[in-house]
Amino acid sequence: MQYIRTDKIFYHPERLNCWLKSEMLVPITMELHLTNKCNMRCGYCFFDDMHNNDILSTENAKKIIDDFVQIGVKGLIFSGGGEPTLHKDFEGIIKYASDLGLDIGLITNGIIYPDVLDYLTWIRFSLDSCDPETFKRIKKVDKFTRVTENIVKCIEKKKDVTIGVQMVVTEENYDQIFDMFDYANKIRADYFQFRPIENTQYTNSVWHEINRARDYFNNRNTGLSVITTENKWIEITSNSAKQYKGCPGADLIGAVDARGDFYIC
Ligand SMILES: C[S@@+](CC[C@H](N)C(=O)[O-])C[C@H]1O[C@@H](n2cnc3c(N)ncnc32)[C@H](O)[C@@H]1O
Ligand code: SF4
Repeated sequence: MQYIRTDKIFYHPERLNCWLKSEMLVPITMELHLTNKCNMRCGYCFFDDMHNNDILSTENAKKIIDDFVQIGVKGLIFSGGGEPTLHKDFEGIIKYASDLGLDIGLITNGIIYPDVLDYLTWIRFSLDSCDPETFKRIKKVDKFTRVTENIVKCIEKKKDVTIGVQMVVTEENYDQIFDMFDYANKIRADYFQFRPIENTQYTNSVWHEINRARDYFNNRNTGLSVITTENKWIEITSNSAKQYKGCPGADLIGAVDARGDFYIC
Protein backbone atom coordinates (compact mmCIF):
# COMPACT_ATOMS: atom_id res chain seq x y z
CA MET A 1 0.00 0.00 0.00
CA GLN A 2 1.12 3.56 -0.72
CA TYR A 3 0.97 5.52 2.55
CA ILE A 4 1.93 9.05 1.52
CA ARG A 5 0.48 10.05 -1.83
CA THR A 6 1.05 13.00 -4.15
CA ASP A 7 -2.24 12.47 -6.04
CA LYS A 8 -4.57 13.26 -3.12
CA ILE A 9 -6.29 16.10 -4.99
CA PHE A 10 -7.78 13.60 -7.47
CA TYR A 11 -9.72 12.01 -4.60
CA HIS A 12 -11.41 15.39 -4.06
CA PRO A 13 -12.84 16.33 -7.50
CA GLU A 14 -15.00 19.09 -5.99
CA ARG A 15 -11.81 20.86 -4.78
CA LEU A 16 -10.15 20.30 -8.15
CA ASN A 17 -13.17 21.87 -9.89
CA CYS A 18 -13.02 24.91 -7.61
CA TRP A 19 -9.34 25.30 -8.36
CA LEU A 20 -9.88 24.98 -12.13
CA LYS A 21 -12.59 27.66 -11.96
CA SER A 22 -10.42 29.89 -9.73
CA GLU A 23 -13.08 29.73 -7.02
CA MET A 24 -12.26 29.98 -3.33
CA LEU A 25 -10.72 26.74 -2.12
CA VAL A 26 -11.21 25.05 1.24
CA PRO A 27 -8.17 23.12 2.52
CA ILE A 28 -8.54 19.34 2.45
CA THR A 29 -6.25 18.93 5.44
CA MET A 30 -5.27 21.25 8.27
CA GLU A 31 -2.49 20.92 10.82
CA LEU A 32 -3.15 21.98 14.40
CA HIS A 33 -0.41 22.75 16.93
CA LEU A 34 -1.75 22.29 20.44
CA THR A 35 1.39 23.60 22.08
CA ASN A 36 4.86 25.04 21.43
CA LYS A 37 6.22 23.17 24.48
CA CYS A 38 8.53 20.26 23.84
CA ASN A 39 10.11 17.52 25.95
CA MET A 40 12.99 16.99 23.49
CA ARG A 41 15.56 19.28 21.91
CA CYS A 42 16.28 17.73 18.52
CA GLY A 43 19.31 19.50 17.06
CA TYR A 44 17.67 19.93 13.65
CA CYS A 45 14.21 21.13 14.78
CA PHE A 46 12.82 23.96 12.68
CA PHE A 47 10.75 25.13 15.67
CA ASP A 48 13.69 25.17 18.07
CA ASP A 49 13.69 28.93 18.67
CA MET A 50 9.88 29.00 18.98
CA HIS A 51 9.71 26.51 21.86
CA ASN A 52 8.02 28.15 24.81
CA ASN A 53 4.97 27.53 26.97
CA ASP A 54 2.36 28.59 24.39
CA ILE A 55 -0.67 26.35 24.72
CA LEU A 56 -3.90 26.49 22.76
CA SER A 57 -6.73 26.44 25.29
CA THR A 58 -9.04 23.46 25.03
CA GLU A 59 -11.93 25.81 24.35
CA ASN A 60 -10.11 27.50 21.46
CA ALA A 61 -8.87 24.18 20.07
CA LYS A 62 -12.45 22.92 19.92
CA LYS A 63 -13.70 26.16 18.37
CA ILE A 64 -11.02 25.97 15.68
CA ILE A 65 -11.91 22.33 15.00
CA ASP A 66 -15.62 23.29 14.74
CA ASP A 67 -14.66 25.95 12.18
CA PHE A 68 -12.61 23.45 10.19
CA VAL A 69 -15.56 21.07 10.02
CA GLN A 70 -17.97 23.85 9.14
CA ILE A 71 -15.95 25.04 6.15
CA GLY A 72 -15.41 21.48 4.87
CA VAL A 73 -11.94 20.41 6.02
CA LYS A 74 -11.64 16.60 5.83
CA GLY A 75 -8.48 15.73 7.71
CA LEU A 76 -6.64 17.08 10.73
CA ILE A 77 -3.00 16.50 11.64
CA PHE A 78 -1.89 17.05 15.24
CA SER A 79 1.78 18.06 15.22
CA GLY A 80 3.87 21.01 16.41
CA GLY A 81 5.14 23.60 17.21
CA GLY A 82 6.15 21.42 20.08
CA GLU A 83 4.99 18.00 21.19
CA PRO A 84 1.18 17.62 20.86
CA THR A 85 0.87 14.94 23.55
CA LEU A 86 2.02 17.50 26.17
CA HIS A 87 -1.34 19.29 26.02
CA LYS A 88 -3.31 18.39 29.16
CA ASP A 89 -6.49 17.69 27.14
CA PHE A 90 -4.72 15.99 24.26
CA GLU A 91 -6.88 12.86 24.36
CA GLY A 92 -10.17 14.76 24.75
CA ILE A 93 -9.36 17.09 21.85
CA ILE A 94 -8.44 14.20 19.54
CA LYS A 95 -11.66 12.37 20.46
CA TYR A 96 -13.64 15.57 19.89
CA ALA A 97 -12.22 15.99 16.37
CA SER A 98 -12.70 12.33 15.52
CA ASP A 99 -16.33 12.38 16.73
CA LEU A 100 -16.95 15.23 14.27
CA GLY A 101 -15.92 12.90 11.44
CA LEU A 102 -12.43 14.23 10.68
CA ASP A 103 -9.65 11.84 9.63
CA ILE A 104 -6.98 12.30 12.28
CA GLY A 105 -3.21 12.00 11.93
CA LEU A 106 -0.69 12.40 14.73
CA ILE A 107 3.02 13.21 14.51
CA THR A 108 4.74 12.61 17.84
CA ASN A 109 8.13 12.00 19.40
CA GLY A 110 6.64 9.08 21.36
CA ILE A 111 7.81 9.93 24.89
CA ILE A 112 4.19 9.94 26.07
CA TYR A 113 2.08 6.93 25.12
CA PRO A 114 -0.70 8.26 22.84
CA ASP A 115 -3.75 6.49 24.27
CA VAL A 116 -5.92 7.57 21.33
CA LEU A 117 -5.37 4.83 18.75
CA ASP A 118 -9.11 4.27 18.27
CA TYR A 119 -9.54 7.85 17.04
CA LEU A 120 -6.59 7.99 14.64
CA THR A 121 -6.23 7.20 10.95
CA TRP A 122 -2.45 7.31 11.12
CA ILE A 123 0.38 8.03 13.51
CA ARG A 124 4.02 8.78 12.69
CA PHE A 125 6.78 8.43 15.26
CA SER A 126 9.78 10.71 14.78
CA LEU A 127 12.36 8.20 16.01
CA ASP A 128 15.48 9.30 14.06
CA SER A 129 17.69 6.44 15.29
CA CYS A 130 17.42 2.85 16.48
CA ASP A 131 20.66 3.20 18.42
CA PRO A 132 20.16 4.59 21.97
CA GLU A 133 23.39 6.65 21.98
CA THR A 134 22.70 8.30 18.61
CA PHE A 135 19.11 8.91 19.68
CA LYS A 136 20.38 10.72 22.78
CA ARG A 137 22.88 12.78 20.78
CA ILE A 138 20.26 14.00 18.30
CA LYS A 139 17.30 14.45 20.61
CA LYS A 140 19.17 15.48 23.79
CA VAL A 141 17.10 13.20 26.03
CA ASP A 142 17.80 9.71 27.32
CA LYS A 143 14.38 8.29 26.44
CA PHE A 144 15.12 5.72 23.74
CA THR A 145 13.75 2.79 25.75
CA ARG A 146 10.56 4.61 26.71
CA VAL A 147 9.92 5.78 23.12
CA THR A 148 10.55 2.41 21.50
CA GLU A 149 8.41 0.63 24.11
CA ASN A 150 5.58 3.04 23.30
CA ILE A 151 5.93 2.48 19.55
CA VAL A 152 5.89 -1.31 19.98
CA LYS A 153 2.90 -1.09 22.32
CA CYS A 154 0.97 0.96 19.74
CA ILE A 155 1.78 -1.56 17.02
CA GLU A 156 0.67 -4.46 19.23
CA LYS A 157 -2.61 -2.77 20.18
CA LYS A 158 -3.53 -1.21 16.88
CA LYS A 159 -6.55 -2.18 14.81
CA ASP A 160 -7.06 0.15 11.84
CA VAL A 161 -4.45 2.83 12.38
CA THR A 162 -1.41 3.11 10.06
CA ILE A 163 1.84 3.43 12.03
CA GLY A 164 5.02 4.86 10.53
CA VAL A 165 8.56 5.27 11.82
CA GLN A 166 10.46 8.30 10.54
CA MET A 167 14.04 9.51 10.54
CA VAL A 168 15.30 12.95 9.66
CA VAL A 169 18.75 12.27 8.21
CA THR A 170 21.51 14.15 10.02
CA GLU A 171 25.32 14.00 10.21
CA GLU A 172 24.84 11.82 13.33
CA ASN A 173 22.56 9.12 11.89
CA TYR A 174 23.14 9.05 8.11
CA ASP A 175 24.90 5.69 8.34
CA GLN A 176 21.83 4.13 10.02
CA ILE A 177 19.23 4.41 7.25
CA PHE A 178 19.37 0.67 6.52
CA ASP A 179 19.42 -0.15 10.27
CA MET A 180 16.29 1.96 10.72
CA PHE A 181 14.60 0.09 7.89
CA ASP A 182 15.49 -3.25 9.56
CA TYR A 183 14.24 -1.97 12.90
CA ALA A 184 10.89 -0.71 11.49
CA ASN A 185 10.50 -4.03 9.69
CA LYS A 186 11.30 -6.02 12.84
CA ILE A 187 8.73 -4.23 14.99
CA ARG A 188 6.14 -4.53 12.17
CA ALA A 189 5.57 -0.85 11.51
CA ASP A 190 3.47 -0.14 8.40
CA TYR A 191 6.11 2.03 6.79
CA PHE A 192 9.53 3.61 7.24
CA GLN A 193 10.25 7.16 6.06
CA PHE A 194 13.53 9.02 5.75
CA ARG A 195 13.66 12.70 4.88
CA PRO A 196 16.19 15.56 4.86
CA ILE A 197 16.61 18.40 7.27
CA GLU A 198 14.85 21.18 5.38
CA ASN A 199 17.11 23.77 3.72
CA THR A 200 20.30 22.06 4.82
CA GLN A 201 23.60 21.24 3.14
CA TYR A 202 25.05 17.77 3.61
CA THR A 203 28.67 16.76 3.26
CA ASN A 204 29.69 14.47 0.38
CA SER A 205 29.95 11.34 2.53
CA VAL A 206 26.43 11.90 3.84
CA TRP A 207 25.10 12.44 0.31
CA HIS A 208 26.81 9.27 -0.83
CA GLU A 209 24.97 7.21 1.77
CA ILE A 210 21.64 9.01 1.23
CA ASN A 211 21.82 8.38 -2.52
CA ARG A 212 22.76 4.74 -1.96
CA ALA A 213 19.65 4.34 0.22
CA ARG A 214 17.38 6.25 -2.19
CA ASP A 215 18.59 4.13 -5.08
CA TYR A 216 18.16 0.91 -3.09
CA PHE A 217 14.69 1.62 -1.74
CA ASN A 218 13.32 3.22 -4.92
CA ASN A 219 14.31 0.27 -7.07
CA ARG A 220 13.48 -2.77 -4.96
CA ASN A 221 10.42 -4.36 -3.50
CA THR A 222 11.53 -4.47 0.13
CA GLY A 223 8.28 -5.74 1.66
CA LEU A 224 7.87 -2.97 4.22
CA SER A 225 6.80 0.30 2.54
CA VAL A 226 9.59 2.86 2.41
CA ILE A 227 8.88 6.54 1.82
CA THR A 228 12.06 8.13 0.53
CA THR A 229 10.53 11.63 0.36
CA GLU A 230 12.02 12.23 -3.11
CA ASN A 231 10.53 15.72 -3.60
CA LYS A 232 12.42 16.98 -0.53
CA TRP A 233 15.79 15.55 -1.60
CA ILE A 234 15.34 17.05 -5.07
CA GLU A 235 14.42 20.39 -3.53
CA ILE A 236 17.59 20.62 -1.45
CA THR A 237 19.84 19.49 -4.32
CA SER A 238 18.50 22.01 -6.80
CA ASN A 239 19.97 25.46 -6.31
CA SER A 240 18.11 26.85 -9.28
CA ALA A 241 14.99 28.99 -8.97
CA LYS A 242 11.74 27.08 -8.74
CA GLN A 243 10.29 26.14 -12.12
CA TYR A 244 6.73 27.10 -11.19
CA LYS A 245 4.91 30.29 -10.33
CA GLY A 246 2.97 30.04 -7.07
CA CYS A 247 1.95 26.86 -5.33
CA PRO A 248 -1.69 25.75 -5.60
CA GLY A 249 -0.96 23.24 -2.83
CA ALA A 250 -0.87 26.16 -0.39
CA ASP A 251 -4.65 26.47 -0.83
CA LEU A 252 -5.24 22.86 0.12
CA ILE A 253 -3.34 22.54 3.38
CA GLY A 254 -2.69 25.00 6.18
CA ALA A 255 -1.71 25.12 9.83
CA VAL A 256 -2.96 26.81 12.96
CA ASP A 257 -0.34 27.16 15.65
CA ALA A 258 -0.53 27.20 19.45
CA ARG A 259 -1.19 30.97 19.46
CA GLY A 260 -4.12 30.51 17.08
CA ASP A 261 -2.25 32.03 14.11
CA PHE A 262 -2.90 30.61 10.64
CA TYR A 263 -0.10 29.62 8.25
CA ILE A 264 -0.55 28.55 4.64
CA CYS A 265 2.43 26.20 4.50
C1 LIG B 1 8.18 19.75 14.50
S1 LIG B 1 7.80 18.08 14.88
C2 LIG B 1 6.39 18.22 15.94
C3 LIG B 1 5.83 16.92 16.39
C4 LIG B 1 6.67 16.13 17.38
N1 LIG B 1 7.30 16.94 18.34
C5 LIG B 1 7.65 15.25 16.66
O1 LIG B 1 8.85 15.50 16.70
O2 LIG B 1 7.19 14.29 16.05
C6 LIG B 1 7.04 17.46 13.38
C7 LIG B 1 7.97 16.74 12.45
O3 LIG B 1 8.87 17.68 11.88
C8 LIG B 1 10.13 17.06 11.77
N2 LIG B 1 11.13 18.12 11.71
C9 LIG B 1 11.45 19.02 12.67
N3 LIG B 1 12.41 19.85 12.24
C10 LIG B 1 12.71 19.50 10.97
C11 LIG B 1 13.61 20.00 9.98
N4 LIG B 1 14.43 21.04 10.22
N5 LIG B 1 13.63 19.38 8.78
C12 LIG B 1 12.82 18.32 8.53
N6 LIG B 1 11.95 17.80 9.42
C13 LIG B 1 11.89 18.38 10.63
C14 LIG B 1 10.22 16.17 13.00
O4 LIG B 1 11.15 15.11 12.84
C15 LIG B 1 8.81 15.65 13.11
O5 LIG B 1 8.65 14.45 12.39
S1 SF4 C 1 10.42 16.43 19.38
FE1 SF4 C 1 9.51 17.47 17.61
S2 SF4 C 1 9.09 19.57 18.24
FE2 SF4 C 1 10.40 18.63 19.80
S3 SF4 C 1 12.45 19.26 19.25
FE3 SF4 C 1 12.10 17.28 18.28
S4 SF4 C 1 11.25 17.72 16.25
FE4 SF4 C 1 11.12 19.60 17.44
